[in-house]
Parts: sequence; structure tokens; C-alpha cells
Amino acid sequence: MAFVRPYEDFDRADVYDVCVRTADGGGDARGQYSDDHLMPDVYAGSYLHLEPELAFVLDDGNRAVGYVLGTADTRRWAGEYRRRWLPMVAPRYPRSDVPRTRQERLVDTLHHPERAVHEGLADYPAHLHIDLLPEHQGHGHGRALLRTFLAALAERGVPAVHLGMASSNVRARGFYDRLGFHELPVTEPGVTFLGIESGAVL
Ligand SMILES: CC(C)(COP(=O)(O)OP(=O)(O)OC[C@H]1O[C@@H](n2cnc3c(N)ncnc32)[C@H](O)[C@@H]1OP(=O)(O)O)[C@@H](O)C(=O)NCCC(=O)NCCS
Repeated sequence: MAFVRPYEDFDRADVYDVCVRTADGGGDARGQYSDDHLMPDVYAGSYLHLEPELAFVLDDGNRAVGYVLGTADTRRWAGEYRRRWLPMVAPRYPRSDVPRTRQERLVDTLHHPERAVHEGLADYPAHLHIDLLPEHQGHGHGRALLRTFLAALAERGVPAVHLGMASSNVRARGFYDRLGFHELPVTEPGVTFLGIESGAVL
């Protein structure tokens, strides 16, 4: 039976694997970009590097097959990302002056963590990402991972968390709705922002 535990350094490759295999609106994004590490370098690596104590994995007894990770403070994270994460990954992903292709736009996102800071989300300072490999979805593990993450936030006195999801990911939206997330009044094309209080009972 799979179980939730804190992230360890040796989980990094597995987290990267889960990330790229669920990064296309919940589906497999392997082979879609020049490097399968690009998606995880944008959406997972910085959190593991900067706030590993807020990362938790689902372990099937053999490896990490799912995770929840994030930051307690999105504004602080953006600053630390620029200082401590971007210098590690930027040389692998040179920026285009005018990003046009999907690849170029994702690389541009990698270079601009500040875009994740929205004035309208000040009451939801934390943000998170959660992903499970397909064979481990639908067994209550997503709920268990989020419970663990919210408890860690509550322990740190963080009032609430938000996430930005591809609006096309209707399956994930059903999951968040079921758990009690509510839509937040922030707009970005193709992205829906949801939030929940850390004290919520999931
Ligand atoms: C989205 C995801 C994290 C959900 O995790 P999960 O383990 O599959 O979900 P759970 O089994 O914990 O579901 C918890 C509850 O939500 C309900 N639920 C899940 N998906 C649902 C849906 N699409 N519609 C309605 N309810 C849903 C479950 O029935 C369950 O309810 P119950 O406990 O009352 O029976 C997981 O499916 C996943 O990783 N998907 C691919 C990657 C992805 O899309 N990540 C999110 C990016 S924003």
C-alpha cells in the first residue's frame, strides 16, 4: 500500500519523472520539449531546492510515484528562485528575445518567477503543485497528500494556499472542487486560480 512521507534528496529523479509524465494538462509531456527536464525545472525543481521541508511524496514501497510541493510564501520564493535557482538552470535554457513557440514561452516562464506573484492573492501566500502517476490516481492519495501539505502550512502559521491550474484540466478541477477549493478572482489566459484555507478539513 502506497504511503505519504517527507521528500528526501534521493526522490528528486522520481519527482522529475512524475512531473513530466503529468505535465500536459494531467497527461504525459515527455518528448514535447527540447529536454524532458524543462517542465520539472520550471514546476518542481525550485521547490525541492528551496523548501524541501514542504515537499511530500507518495511512496509505493519502491519509489516516489506522486508528490505535493510548493512554497509557504510566493513572494519570498520568487526572490529566492531568482537568487538561488535560476543561476543553476538558466545556462541550459537560453532565453529568446521574443518568445513565440511553446518551448520558448516555457523557457521565458523559467526566467521570470515574479510572474507567479499576483497582488490579488496576498491572502493566499502559499502555492502548491500536486501530481500522481496515472496508476496511482483515484485511490485517495491526492487527498492524503494535500492533507499533509495543509497541516505543514498550518504548523508554520501560513493561513491559506493557492494554485494555478490549466483551465482545460477538468479532471483536476473536479478533484479540487470535491476537496473544497474555491475559485479566486485572478485572471490569466488559460489558467484558473483556486485557493483553500490551511485549516480546512479535507
Ligand atoms: C488531480 C490529482 C492530484 C487528484 O488526485 P487523486 O489521488 O486522483 O484524487 P483522490 O483519489 O484523492 O480524490 C479525492 C476525492 O476527489 C474526488 N475526485 C477526484 N477527481 C474527481 C473528479 N474529476 N470529479 C469529481 N470528483 C473527483 C474523488 O472521488 C475523491 O472523493 P471521495 O474521497 O469523496 O471519494 C491526480 O489525479 C493527478 O495527479 N492527476 C494528474 C496530474 C494533475 O492533473 N495534477 C493537477 C495539476 S493542477
